[in-house]
Amino acid sequence: MGAGMKARAPATASSKIDTPVNMPTAPGPVIFVIFGGGGDLAWRKLVPSLYYLHVNRSLPEQFAIIGVDRAPFSDVTLRKRLMDGVRQFSGLGAVKPKEWKAFAGRISYQRADFGSIATYRMLARRLKALDRAWNAKPTWVFHLATPPSLVGVIPKFLAAVGLARERQRARIVVEKPIGSDLESARRLNTTLTESFHEPQIFRIDHYLGKETVQNIMAFRFANPMFEPVWNRRYVEYVTITVAEELGIGHRGAYYEKAGELRDMVQNHAMQLLCLVAMEPPVFFGADEIRNKKVDVLHSLRTFPPEDVGALAERGQYDRGTVQGKGVPAYREEQDVAADSQVETFAALKMFVDNWRWQDVPFYVRAGKRMPRQLTEIVVHFRRAPHRLFPAAAMPDWQPARLIMCIQPDEGIVLQFHAKQPGGLMRLRLVDMQFSYRKTFKVPSPPPYATLLHDVMTNDATLFMRSDQVEAAWAALMPVLGTWSSTVPGNFPNYAAGTWGPSAADTLLMNDGHKWVVSTGAEARRSEKRR
Ligand code: BG6
Repeated sequence: MGAGMKARAPATASSKIDTPVNMPTAPGPVIFVIFGGGGDLAWRKLVPSLYYLHVNRSLPEQFAIIGVDRAPFSDVTLRKRLMDGVRQFSGLGAVKPKEWKAFAGRISYQRADFGSIATYRMLARRLKALDRAWNAKPTWVFHLATPPSLVGVIPKFLAAVGLARERQRARIVVEKPIGSDLESARRLNTTLTESFHEPQIFRIDHYLGKETVQNIMAFRFANPMFEPVWNRRYVEYVTITVAEELGIGHRGAYYEKAGELRDMVQNHAMQLLCLVAMEPPVFFGADEIRNKKVDVLHSLRTFPPEDVGALAERGQYDRGTVQGKGVPAYREEQDVAADSQVETFAALKMFVDNWRWQDVPFYVRAGKRMPRQLTEIVVHFRRAPHRLFPAAAMPDWQPARLIMCIQPDEGIVLQFHAKQPGGLMRLRLVDMQFSYRKTFKVPSPPPYATLLHDVMTNDATLFMRSDQVEAAWAALMPVLGTWSSTVPGNFPNYAAGTWGPSAADTLLMNDGHKWVVSTGAEARRSEKRR
């Protein structure tokens, strides 16, 4: 799991802690098969991340990528396409010809019909040929970077030709969405486990690969001073914001069937909620951590269908201005119905019914076309029990807060009260800041690089287990059910470039609470640029 965070890490891994980018060592031989190798995900995320690992010497000598797809590519055309992706998305700047040559030599292409067993037989022959050529038994990673409809198909064929059988070496990677509701997620999990065993299945939520997301556990559980206040006695409420500047782009066809609740809340936002609310794990192991996270999901208070209106708000963006540019309404995007009722914004008020969090509201919001990209968790503390200072000391009282900035301004801000200079007792919230960029001075690895390396080393800590996926769906089903059976009637209800519909503010204001976002230096700079 992530650089330097692995449980019971071998001495070689921890001894790398002082290197500039703390990257893990290379695993044993691997063949990385990308179903959908000619597609967007391979181009934008997977191969740039594998290249990042290559450049950081975190790939083994015996390593191959086989792109499997329908398009009539050759090895050469695929490599060319992938190099373009590496140039744009690896975060490493210009591609060094020598590095690329060594990497590209490992990439080959297989044209395929995903519904034909011949495809899988041919793949099996290629894999076995590499066993012989390398005189090794490499790990096989089958990454499904295909449309969701094929996720139920490919595993069956892989099993049919015997490629799922060898539990130690065969792993399958599945991207979100894992289903579109509880029922379909269960069906998909059943299909997957009919062909592969659960420990062979890696369900990706790329948020878990983000350094700052992994740091939530480091922050909470490596520092003894925060845990004692991390509970209902000291915390009044928690807000989680997952905001994107982007609209739907060319993904209208997918998004029309998904909406924000399925696209961002069921997975990414729920993962953040789990990490903030979970109990301390007993040891740093994949199943122990995942057990503690799933406990949070099981503790979520069920939304009574009759209260969904009071506990959940949805929105859809209208035309507006984002970062100084005029942008179209959701209903004007490509492949979106002119009268679409799909939400591009969701806000929920949730409760974690356990001893630690009883009656502490967790407000979660996610939206497209917000004023800026921002993922943040804010823990709002209660007032001091005794009001020592006169009201005039802080007429506009605000709670002390801890802000975990997941992106883009990665870091942590502790906001607390301090006395302003001068003869009068006047208090003000001040910031104590930790910035990843300023402290570590190296960019974080791309989340996919961390995750793909973890697949290769068989570390499932940062991946979603089937029960976790299903519990997250189960928690949201009353909202999904109510929203699908009632037409919102007021869409579009927020202008692009704003923080969503006003009802989402009222959701908190009714409780005397509010959404807060950091105003760190970088955030201010990006506001200014607009
Ligand atoms: C994906 C969603 O999972 O996450 C997209 O499907 C969204 O709609 C993306 O844009 C956001 O990821 P990030 O890492 O840019 O916050």
